[in-house]
Amino acid sequence: MMKPAAPLPSVEIDEASGTVLLRTTYSVYVLRVDRVAGTVRHVHWGAPLPLADAVTLPVWSEHDNSFAGRWDGVEEYPVDGGARFGVPALEVRFPDGSSPLEPTVLAVDRRAADHVVVRLRDRTRPLTWHLHYRVPADGDVLERWTEFHHTGADGDVLLLRYASAHWPLPHRPAWRTGSVHGGWAGEGRLERSVLPVGETVIGSRRGHTGHHANPWMAWDAGDAGEEHGEVWVVALAASGTWRLTAQRTAAGRTGVVAGEGHEGIELRLAPGGSHRTPVSLALYTAHGFGQASRDFHHHLRMHVLPHPEEPRPVLYNSWEATSFDVSEDNQLALARRAADLGAELFVLDDGWFRGRDDDRAGLGDWTPHPARFPRGLRPLADEVHRLGMAFGLWVEPEMVNADSDLFRSHPDWVLHQPDRTATELRNQLVLDFSRPEVTEWALGWLRKVVADNAVDFLKWDFNRAFTEAGAHPAGPDARRVHVEHARGLYRVLDRLRADFPRLRIEACAGGGGRVDPGILARTDQVWPSDNTDAVDRLTVQHGFSQLYPAGVMSAWVTDSPNPLTGRVVPMRFRFHSAMAGVLGIGGDLTRWTDTERAEAAELVRVYKDIRPVVQRGRQYRLLAPGEGPLAAVQYVSEDGGRAVVLVWRPSTAFGPALPSLRLRGLDAEARYRDEESGREWSGSTLRSFGLPLPELPAGDCASALVRLRRIEDPGPGPGPGPGAGA
Ligand code: GLA
Repeated sequence: MMKPAAPLPSVEIDEASGTVLLRTTYSVYVLRVDRVAGTVRHVHWGAPLPLADAVTLPVWSEHDNSFAGRWDGVEEYPVDGGARFGVPALEVRFPDGSSPLEPTVLAVDRRAADHVVVRLRDRTRPLTWHLHYRVPADGDVLERWTEFHHTGADGDVLLLRYASAHWPLPHRPAWRTGSVHGGWAGEGRLERSVLPVGETVIGSRRGHTGHHANPWMAWDAGDAGEEHGEVWVVALAASGTWRLTAQRTAAGRTGVVAGEGHEGIELRLAPGGSHRTPVSLALYTAHGFGQASRDFHHHLRMHVLPHPEEPRPVLYNSWEATSFDVSEDNQLALARRAADLGAELFVLDDGWFRGRDDDRAGLGDWTPHPARFPRGLRPLADEVHRLGMAFGLWVEPEMVNADSDLFRSHPDWVLHQPDRTATELRNQLVLDFSRPEVTEWALGWLRKVVADNAVDFLKWDFNRAFTEAGAHPAGPDARRVHVEHARGLYRVLDRLRADFPRLRIEACAGGGGRVDPGILARTDQVWPSDNTDAVDRLTVQHGFSQLYPAGVMSAWVTDSPNPLTGRVVPMRFRFHSAMAGVLGIGGDLTRWTDTERAEAAELVRVYKDIRPVVQRGRQYRLLAPGEGPLAAVQYVSEDGGRAVVLVWRPSTAFGPALPSLRLRGLDAEARYRDEESGREWSGSTLRSFGLPLPELPAGDCASALVRLRRIEDPGPGPGPGPGAGA
């Protein structure tokens, strides 16, 4: 199937009507600047249309009466002020205590072919805000962010709400919203429900992205499916406290305000000061939830991830094998076995530093544990390198135990409030990364540990939420640390990466507590959950994949029975589950039998063969876990020449008969060969009748992996566009 010709992403402006049209590969977003009313109105977001039409399209307005917010839901950036009664994107308090804003439009600036800025200011007060719109090349994701400037000479302006964007949705009779929720060891559970009239809020008040929600929401009119129907998605690149507020008015308007912060988390702008929000990303597709995910994956690879092209190594991690009880000897024993299995990176997890015998002490004192590593870490690192693997190390730089030398010398560095108890969670306190002296300290020891021990990879953890989060010195915006801590973290990560360009980083926060497009701009992969049960993991991975690509999704094969759930799962199923992302191994290899290790080595070998397809290909969720007896995922290589199918049957139900599996993203005209059995099918058979499933072993937790290769080339392949999903 030919990829439909699409115009290049661009910004088109019609000066006379004030219309701005943002064109992505397969969608259009239109706004109109109204200089008389002093606002920017939303016109259209959806299927492509020409500028000539966009110029004349009416802007929706509510029936005008003395109780109505006439423009509620249709402004690009609603402020608190005037007859507006919806969720404001911007709400402030001026030095005299007044709040209402009266916007006027200053200018529409085209900054580049793909970037336009609408500048607004208050009619009389010294505040300007700039709405940035960018259309990144090659895709359907739009980026928006906002900058605020205090242009006066006296008095502070307090920002109470300071959203990145308001994204109005088109009119539909009803809306369904989708998002993920969960908790520690149970992240990524996808839920779709009817959007009620009113305000629906997801977010985090925890200072980190959160296990409990993830900063994105998807919408459809109730009629979309995995591979069909119109879908809109909004996400936020924020790793601190955040909030997405979807609003549906009784009059039929729907939209979402996306921004950092939450109620009560205010930011102070001093005269001359400015603040820039994180980027909010959004997309429209006419081809279902699956295409929305593939578009996001593509965007993250093209525009966000630092090294999207690099194959992620097969890693071994010591945590589930040795917990805190690490030593040079037991890590060497694991490293040798890991190398035998084909691991390419060995990661020494928690427990390696001074005072760290359990989770009650040590965080903050980042020098090797003298009893466990009397010679330091370097001999272990050297041996790991000699075994042909990279060397990785667990760190948790933003945390401190009260029982540590760091805390004893800097008790004021933790988040705390005067005369309040500083709550300990997992026996630890949070270091205030909004303070330069704290981030300089962190950068100092990180540089030393990385350089001294030839560290190639850091697993960067964050194991508790914020409490008593006040910045120091305090002030009217004492809780700004909810926003500024993550910015301090970004600065440390950016500088560390600049100093060590070959260093790779895995983001972890007690599992998937900090997964978002902001952290992904400065890390290479993420640990989605501390739950390594291969069956539970299918659900976590399904939720993860809604926004994030398999190439950043770390997944380990651990022991059976699983230490968390007690479930007994065959080696093959455990591998097949983890092979759907960035394969790692986390079991106690000293207890694996020769037969198990031989099987594992063979599965690692197979993974290395499919790795480019899984990590860089297009992902199709064929069957969602929990919705039937089977779950299945398919990946198609960038050039369309290979496909990998993973299918799992967590439990047997009503006998062995299984349907064929209808594949996606294949060229109907081409023929494909199963690399194991040698059987051949046409793309149209695989798409229409489906792939006849290989026989699965009897019993619970059965799985299969099928590798297909295109054997003849009848012409151009489906390419990455929506046509490929048909
Ligand atoms: C967190 C991580 C685990 C492990 C432990 C170590 O819980 O998610 O993988 O690193 O910390 O304390």
